[in-house]
Amino acid sequence: MARTGLTRPAVAVHADIGSLAANAAERFATAAEASGGPRIDVVLTGGSTAPVIYRLLADEPFASRVDWGRVHVWWTDERCVPPDDPRSNYGAAREALLDRVPIPCEHIHRMRGEDPNPEREAVHYEAALRAGQALARGAPPSFDFVLLGLGGDAHVASLFPGSSTVALSDRLVAVARSDEVPMPDPVVDRLTLTLSALNGARAAVFVVAGAEKAAALRAVLEEPAIPALRPAQGIHPAGGPPVWLVDRAAAGMPSGAR
Ligand code: 6PG
Repeated sequence: MARTGLTRPAVAVHADIGSLAANAAERFATAAEASGGPRIDVVLTGGSTAPVIYRLLADEPFASRVDWGRVHVWWTDERCVPPDDPRSNYGAAREALLDRVPIPCEHIHRMRGEDPNPEREAVHYEAALRAGQALARGAPPSFDFVLLGLGGDAHVASLFPGSSTVALSDRLVAVARSDEVPMPDPVVDRLTLTLSALNGARAAVFVVAGAEKAAALRAVLEEPAIPALRPAQGIHPAGGPPVWLVDRAAAGMPSGAR
């Protein structure tokens, strides 16, 4: 693991996804241990990188370090599909982690992707977040740990370049419409936390793996901040700059020892 020339914010480069995932799991467990209050609010991301981390968290040495009874789980985003659909972010996290740790089911706050009216679910999920954290009107949520992925187009959660959802400042949850901007799955709308919600993070960690992410990663870290073009540049957590955990391929480095 080495720090690159890309110095702001902190970027840690890993030889492979396994060591990247171990670092992310360590940071999750550390954030959970540091939270002294009655609840530990965490936000899980979707995508293909995160389940590697979830499986580690469900095993030792991490599983016994986390007081799962206090953990409340939220999601960065969800595809508008039923929970047993293979594209469901909830479904992936349930299989890799939630079914394997003693977390109370009422603490699992999934986005109901199956709702035929996504806007209704966006309003419902925002209300659940506000009530769950007893937020005053207009107050941002607070999360102990937020895990984030990065799309090859510099999207984060389901905040896509050119989408009206990126600039939303009066909502915590929104609908990303597949007919508005190009999205990985052009037929499926998505539910997403907005930047206002995501920036309630006390600790935010990006996990980025694969050569197909190199261009987006470099642009997000080095180009001027234009969230409308590169939504990941809109991540400015309350707890301080996000940490970037990347593999050599995403950092544009030769595979080296791998
Ligand atoms: C989703 C995500 C999305 C994801 C990135 C990275 O539902 O797809 O939440 O934002 O994190 O696209 O995905 P990978 O880990 O598959 O590269």
